[in-house]
This record gives sequence, C-alpha cells and structure tokens, in this order.
Amino acid sequence: MTGDTDRTPARTDRAPADARREAAVEAALARLDLPAKVALLAGADMWSLPANEEIGLGRLVMSDGPAGVRGEHWTADDPSVALPSPTALAATWDVDLARRAGRLLAQEARRKGAHVVLAPTVNLHRSPRGGRHFECYSEDPLLTGEIGAALVCGVQDGGVATTPKHFVANDSETDRYTVDVRADERTLRELYLAPFETIVRKAHPWGLMAAYNAVNGTSMSEHTALNLTVLREEWGFDGVLVSDWTGARDTVRSALGGLDIAMPGPATVYGEHLVAAVREGLVPESAVNGLARNVLRLAARVGLLAGAPAAVPAGELPPPVDGEALVRELAARSFVLLRNEGGVLPLDPAPASLALIGAAATEARIGGGGSAQVFPTRIVGPLDGLRAALGADTALVHETGADPRTFVPAAAFPCTAELLGADGTVLGTAALTDGSVRWLGSLPGGVSFGDLAAVRLTGATPAGPAGRHLLAVRGVGRFTLEADGEVLFDGVLLPEGEDPAAAFLNPPERRFEVELPEGGRTAVTLTCTMPETGEFAGFGLVSFALGHAEPTVSPDELIERAVEAARAAEVAVVVVGTTEEVESEGVDRDGLRLPGRQDELVARVAAANPRTVVVVNAGAPVLMPWRESVAAVLLCWFPGQQAGEALADVLLGTVEPGGRLPTTWPAEEADSPVWEVVPTDGRLEYSEGLFIGYRAWQRRAGAAPAYWFGAGRGYTDWSYEGLEVRLVDSAEGATGATGTEGATPDVLAEVAVRVRNTGARTGREVVQVYLGTDGSDRSRPDRRLAGFAVVEAAPGAVATARIAVPLRAVQSWDTAARAWRTDPGVHLVEAGPHAGDRPLTVALVVPSA
Ligand code: BGC
Repeated sequence: MTGDTDRTPARTDRAPADARREAAVEAALARLDLPAKVALLAGADMWSLPANEEIGLGRLVMSDGPAGVRGEHWTADDPSVALPSPTALAATWDVDLARRAGRLLAQEARRKGAHVVLAPTVNLHRSPRGGRHFECYSEDPLLTGEIGAALVCGVQDGGVATTPKHFVANDSETDRYTVDVRADERTLRELYLAPFETIVRKAHPWGLMAAYNAVNGTSMSEHTALNLTVLREEWGFDGVLVSDWTGARDTVRSALGGLDIAMPGPATVYGEHLVAAVREGLVPESAVNGLARNVLRLAARVGLLAGAPAAVPAGELPPPVDGEALVRELAARSFVLLRNEGGVLPLDPAPASLALIGAAATEARIGGGGSAQVFPTRIVGPLDGLRAALGADTALVHETGADPRTFVPAAAFPCTAELLGADGTVLGTAALTDGSVRWLGSLPGGVSFGDLAAVRLTGATPAGPAGRHLLAVRGVGRFTLEADGEVLFDGVLLPEGEDPAAAFLNPPERRFEVELPEGGRTAVTLTCTMPETGEFAGFGLVSFALGHAEPTVSPDELIERAVEAARAAEVAVVVVGTTEEVESEGVDRDGLRLPGRQDELVARVAAANPRTVVVVNAGAPVLMPWRESVAAVLLCWFPGQQAGEALADVLLGTVEPGGRLPTTWPAEEADSPVWEVVPTDGRLEYSEGLFIGYRAWQRRAGAAPAYWFGAGRGYTDWSYEGLEVRLVDSAEGATGATGTEGATPDVLAEVAVRVRNTGARTGREVVQVYLGTDGSDRSRPDRRLAGFAVVEAAPGAVATARIAVPLRAVQSWDTAARAWRTDPGVHLVEAGPHAGDRPLTVALVVPSA
C-alpha cells in the first residue's frame, strides 16, 4: 500500500522450476517405504526434521521468530539480532518496512542454519489481557494480514520458509493447550481466519503452524474442516502444517486432520504409532503420502532436496541487510506519540539538563517473554542511547524511581555450571555470564540429556553494600542452595497451573536473605537435580536461575530521589513499562495497570516538572491515569536491541515518531469491550462476535477509548483535503494492496486521499480508509478498516495516498450459503488519521452482483 521501493520483480520463469520441483518431490516420494515416509513427519529433536541420504534430503531446521531468529540454542552464547516486537512492526503500518524486516529474518535464519522461521504470529488482539499480545500485530484483521503477508514475502525472498501461527483462535493464553474456543462461522471468517487467508492468498507461505487450542470442539491439530477444506481446498495452501510444540496428541485424528509435522521429537504421536495405524487400516497410506509430499515440497523449496530447484536460487538472494541499522529504523518508525503538549517534543535544541527516570531506563524490555525471546550481542538501553546522543552541554542524571519487578533478577555475576552424571562425575562445564541456565535441545560440551543427573552452579556475589542481600532460586524441580557452605534451601519447587511450558516460561521462586558487611562477598552454590519423569523429562530442557539483589534504598526513598532529580532538571523523561511477569507467553494478564508504583512515580514527577515526557515500554495496552497531566506520552513498545538509539533519535527529533496504534487503548479496564480470557468449563465463548476493538467502541454512544485504533502523531500537522473514489471494474484485475506477488485481483475501488503537511517540519502520515454503513444493519460493524498508506511531505506540500480497497471490505460471510456475499447499496468511504476521526467521506454505491 505504500511506495514501490522494495518489491521483488515477479519472476516470470517460475512455472518450469515449480514443475521440476514437483517432479523431484514425486520421484523422492516414490522411493520411500512407509516407515521412511513417516520418518519425515516428526521432529528428530527439538528443532529439526531428519535427513534421508538415500533420496538426497538434508536435515531441515526450524527456529522461533518472530522478533529475531534464535536458532537451535536457547542461549546468549549464540546471539541473534533482536527486532522490535511484532506490535511495533504493525504500529509502523508500513508494508515495505515489514518486508525488509522479513528479509532480515531470512538473513539471520541463513546465518544460523535454519530453514524455517516459526513466524509471524497473526492471532488477533481480542482482549488486551492476552499475554502474548506483544507478539501479535493488531486487533484488526486487515492490518494484521497486510503486515503478515509482507513479512512472509520478505522472509521467503531470502529463500527461507515461514509458518504464520497459530492457526486459529489462539488469541489468549489461559489453558491454551486445552481451551475450546467457541466462535460462530461468520466471526471466524471475518475476523480470526481473515489474516491467515490474506497471507495464504497473497504471500503463499511455505508453512503454517496449527494452534494448541480447539475450535468449536475440535483440536486445531486435528481440524479437518479448517485444515483441509478451508486452508487447502478453498485457499489453495500447498505448504506444510506443523503442530505447535507438543500440540499433536492423537495419531489417527492428526494424520486425517491434515497435520503434516508433529514437533518436537523424537517422541511424538507419529513415528511408529503412525506406521501401526496405517498397517491397522486406521489411516490410509494415501493420507501419509499427502503429508510426506508436503514435507518434501518444503524441503525442496528451501534447497534441501537433491535435484529439486530451490524456490530462490542462490544467485537471486536479496542484498545483505544491515541488521542494527534496520532495527533502529524500525523502532523509531514504530514509536507512537500520543500526546505532545506545547510541542515539548522534540527536544530540539537539547535541554541543559535532563532527568531520566525509571528502572526500564537502564534495563529496557527489548522483547517479550517466551518462545519469541532472542539474545542480542549488545543492547543499547535508553540511558546509554541518550548519553551517546546528548552532547556534553546536557547534564544527564538517572534515578530508578520505582522498580516494578516482582522476581529477584538473575545474579549479575559470572557463574560456572558443572554438568554432573549420576555418580557425581563432572561430564562438562560451562562458563555463564550470569545466574540463568537455559539449555533447550542440546547441552554444553555435547553432554547428552540421558547422562545428565544434575547441574551445579557456583559463583560469588561481588563486593557490595552492607545489609540484607537477597538470594533466590527460580525454576521447577529439586534444588539445593548454599551460601558459604550453609544450606539455605533443600527442596522441590512445583509449577503453578497445568501448562507444561509453565516450568519454563513462568517458574516459581523462593528467596532468602543473607546479611553481609560492607564489601562482603558470599560464595553461592545452587544444585538442580534433573527430573526423571514429568512433561519435560526427555524433552531436552534445563531451565532455572540463581537470583541475587543487593540491598537497596526503600521504595519511598527511590521515588523521592526521582522527584528531586526531576525538579532540578529542565526536562524529565520517565520510562515506565510492564515486566516479564506481566507480559509473556503462557499467561494472560490480570489487569492493565502498570506494575509496582510506576503510576505514582509518574504523577509525582509530573507534579514536580511540567516538562515531563513519559515513555511507555510495553507490548500491549496499559492504563495511563496520568496521561492528561504529563507533557508528552510516547509508546516505544518492546523496541529491540537498538532501543536507546531509536529513543534518542525520536526524543531529539532526528527522526519523527512514525507509529500509529495497531490496537485501541482503553482508559479503564472496565471499558474494554472484551475482557474475559478465562475459559468456563474448558470453553471460551467469543460471544462478542464481530465486535472487538474499535468495531465494538463505535457502538458505544458517548463512550470513547483513551486512544483510538490508528491514533498517533508525528512532529508536524496534516489536513485532509480531498478524497476520490473510483470503482474498479472486476475485469480490470487491479494489483493487490501490498504489491506482494500473486496478489488477489479482488479490488473494489481505487481511492486517492490528498493530505497537506500544514506544519513546519517534513513528516510522515499514515492515511487510513474505513468503509462504513449507515448503521441500520446491527449485525455488521459500523465501519471497518479497508486500506491504508504511508505518505511523506515537506512543509506546505501535498501528498496523495493511493489505496486499493479490497472487495472484501463490502462483503459479509453468509453462513447459510457458506460463501462471501457482496452487500449491495450505499457504503461510505471515509478517510482520516484514525478510527475515531474520519474527516472525508464519499458515498459509494455498490451494485448488486
Ligand atoms: C509456542 C510457539 C513456538 C513453539 C516453539 C510454543 O510453545 O506457542 O509459538 O513456536 O513453542 O518454541
């Protein structure tokens, strides 16, 4: 929908290569017996599918995304470029940038030997409580689908596969393995399936990941109607459908339900169980052939099948991407400026003194927790970024103000891990930079999980202040903690809830106090004994942490110090945010308040300094009760590894904050149109139907959210001056909205929106087009996003956004007819800067089909 800058020219010579690839796939398939075919359908280990030398098939490696490519090792020793979180990418509303982000992911995947990136996450922001909100794009299916399609194209430009996930309705985390989402067909089609459909039709992903949950009574890894009838037959998907990790539970139902790959391995419901099911006549061998064919096609596309041309020949790979530069650009483009009283931002010229306040100012959350986590080589936090960007003429001070973390952080001193065998023999050692141990899939020094009986971690607290130091154990299992030879804990920590990944994602903690004199140190040993049974036994996982915190001043004093620093400075910048405990995979949020005493901190600082700028470091909506009493509010999401550089760019005005909200921000929890994420009797009813996000807010007479979907502003002003709409004759076959290859020709209208930059700086505007009705049909949302485009203009100049509105914008799913129905009659084409402000309107008469 934006300029043509970064599009790959359509390859016209595709068909012969596709035909040769299909022929090679068929030839390989014909040479495999039943066990060999079945072997292709399950993980050999945590991240890979097995090779088969006889047919020239290489080992196929998958790696998590979507905010970076971690590779096969869950460790800081194997670093990755950490991109801004997906909410941030969607906040750019920029499909060209999304495509470039995809190319960076492909480059990282190639560097790490991965062939498939398990991304993007295209579930919807149904409720702001969704714990994985930061990892999804938006509350709107069109924005989600367009950004997702562009990202997939970018990754696949680099010859690497994607798996848009989690298909479908994994929009919250509570009981995610078992929850049965109940949604009517129209709701599924118009909201939750829609981004997947857009991506499949426009970007032709080579993979897709099935969700853990069930939809209307059937587990998604077994959902024949959605996986086969809708996805393959109707939308023409020809990639692989991979389970979410441990999500395949039934051999026969999964094989018949179209699940091509069960991950991780080696123990899965496929393997010998599937061979037996075929031999017993429960699964026809033709079904196995179909699954194996899809896997071989994937391998061929990524260049792992001898004799089959890769989808992107080595000579056609895109030029290298400068990862750090792109991450910095992306972050700044994603920041959303929600308030800027008296033009306090940009800080140009730089102030003589600046008080930077907040725990996140030194330890920003650069990404959300869970499988999306990657470990960058270096992180530039806000303090470092501002220090580097501000000259010597600005006095910069930092105060923590409030520390919202509820868990003791992993010890910040180096530790040694010894991997012990059953008889106590040291099988291997690893030098760790801090107190966290997280090994997934493989162990240091090539030690095998089968031989590992315990891990002993040793280290010593550095000389610190006198007082009570905290030591903590965080993990699931049996632990012994000793300080200077004294046993502080010898016992078992159990996970809360039934999510098997909770041990990994949200483990419990026990903490202990050790009194030390000024400059005193203590030698610490933490031993973790491996479980012999349980969900993760044999799964290839060791995950626990030794925590340490030095004595600190009281919370009251922390706030007082911050207030005094703010009072003495020309400008105060307060960085507030959520914590790992609040926003993470595996759990939903209890509420939207900022954790700890951060609200109080902001209110006190704002009272002390009228030039208070609040930077919100969160992946999803938080309440901002102080928002009308501070000078500026800037959302920076989870901004990736160049966080501080991007923040300095935006605060100092080198770059304009380019983002717009991809989701509506409520003022109060009680206002949220959809709140419930906890299933009742195993079921989560999507009883709100089509009315999530701004679609629901529009129905509320007199009520308004804190900030509408699409809202945000840069450093200039815009006036909306003209709107022209031209119906496209269906025979014209217009190009698709994102310019992605194979775009759908179903374009309803070409819309041109003229906007003028009325401010004093060159700027960037996200022009949005909504399609509305007269409101008489209460079963339909009053208006829906129908297209968008990014334009730039110099002061006083006019720019025209050209937006292709898809036919779907005037269609509804007809459940009785099981088909899309064009709604004839008058539709209002509205253009404006966000869902709550649409100054231009043109009535469009859609003829009966
Ligand atoms: C997550 C997936 C992820 C997989 C592998 C699952 O728990 O839901 O999104 O790709 O783990 O890490």
